Amino acid sequence: MKHRTVTPENKIEAGQDVFMISCSRCHSTTGINGVMEHFTRMYGAGEWSESGMVSFFGTMHKTSTFMPPFPGNKAEKEALAAYILDLRKTAEPLSGAQTDGVRLPESEPTASQP
Ligand code: HEC
Repeated sequence: MKHRTVTPENKIEAGQDVFMISCSRCHSTTGINGVMEHFTRMYGAGEWSESGMVSFFGTMHKTSTFMPPFPGNKAEKEALAAYILDLRKTAEPLSGAQTDGVRLPESEPTASQP
């Protein structure tokens, strides 16, 4: 993860971080269960609106109950939307949790039951 806060300069990169954290364990970008394909089915071939995507992120766990609530704030939703819109232009695949795995912190040894 590269950025802690979203600024106009890092918006797209920060959006990629948001994607890695909150979407990549279930979705790829352009591959298996890819968000590009989902949004293309939802929004079609024309312009996609950033504000439409931002409101989707706010309600996606209600309309699609298999998805968790979006974990971030408004700036992070906007960054994610900007990243997805940029990705639509570049179509750059992102190696994510599905190919690289997820590193978990070392777990503490659990105390044995008495
Ligand atoms: C816990 C797993 C999980 C997470 C995390 C997750 N999704 Fe999903 N998402 C799914 C599944 C499963 C589907 C349904 C796939 C299908 O129907 O083929 C889906 C569907 C979608 C759809 C299509 C919705 C529709 O109404 O057709 C979009 C768009 C989407 N996800 C975007 C995202 C974005 C963006 C994120 C991150 C903010 C995210 N998802 C996080 C599992 C997840």
